[in-house]
Amino acid sequence: MLATATIAEEILDLKSSRRAILLAHHYQEAEIQELADAVGDSLELARRARDFEGDVIAFCGVWFMAETAKILNPDRTVIVPDKAASCSLVEGCPAEPIREYRRRNPDHVIVSYINTSAEVKAESDIICTSRNAVDVVNSIPAHKTVLFLPDRNLGAYVQRQTGRANMKIWQGSCIVHATFPQRRLLEAMKTHPEAVVIAHPECPESVLQHAAFIGSTSALIDFCVKNAAREFIVMTESGVAFSLQKYAPNKKFYFVANENCNCSECPYMRLNTLEKLREALLNLEPRVDLDPELMRRAAVPIERMLAL
Ligand code: 13P
Ligand code: SF4
Repeated sequence: MLATATIAEEILDLKSSRRAILLAHHYQEAEIQELADAVGDSLELARRARDFEGDVIAFCGVWFMAETAKILNPDRTVIVPDKAASCSLVEGCPAEPIREYRRRNPDHVIVSYINTSAEVKAESDIICTSRNAVDVVNSIPAHKTVLFLPDRNLGAYVQRQTGRANMKIWQGSCIVHATFPQRRLLEAMKTHPEAVVIAHPECPESVLQHAAFIGSTSALIDFCVKNAAREFIVMTESGVAFSLQKYAPNKKFYFVANENCNCSECPYMRLNTLEKLREALLNLEPRVDLDPELMRRAAVPIERMLAL
């Protein structure tokens, strides 16, 4: 490798020598998205991981997404630039209470958002993402009681969309979306009266009630590209600005700061950097390593979702 090679060139060289694919979530820094073989939402990246045929998946996203890729590719190496890239939804939903719930309620159907640990997935009947959560819940026979976990806002949104009464919802939340204050959204709507409001379903109802469109990360981007409006207030993580500007360069996008960081960035996603990605490809660490039996059990509800 040339001493003058830039870090991006080094990553691309390592990627080809490792027979690796670089998958990036929309919430990654632009410089990571620029190098990726695929940029997508959690469902698209899970599908892309399932269909991959090389040796290494370098997953630039958060740990649960990489775990999903590993479960779908038990014989391949899956690495993440920063092992600490977790998610507040995963942190707020440990496996033991879910195991206990399952023991006490064997006839209930556990629908788990993909933002859960492999251990929680292994206790679940079916996985969903923000893109297909309504369809997944609608696929469950009406007489069955559903436990939806772990996101309370997504769960409440799904319940409103499906009209399902027999649905219990775990009370976890996303530290980014759940803390977007309605007050700041109303101010942005006043400042940009022509702008169309769009939102991720992890936002609270006080925000969602103002949205003309609610959808997963990629669905929000598709909506802005296809919609005739020129301005949008985007109630999600600001990493989506990269694809929005790429695919709708003549439109304007406004983001609203949340109350945690006074920004709209996911602190877990943003732990990944180009430098850490290069080190990860060089050392094949940090690597997702899961017990084979756990992977086998967690694969069942994921495959059920992918088959829908
Ligand atoms: P998507 O399913 O839209 O990728 O969302 C994942 C996520 O973590 C949102 O905060
Ligand atoms: Fe988790 Fe929220 Fe970050 Fe998405 S934005 S990874 S839900 S903490």
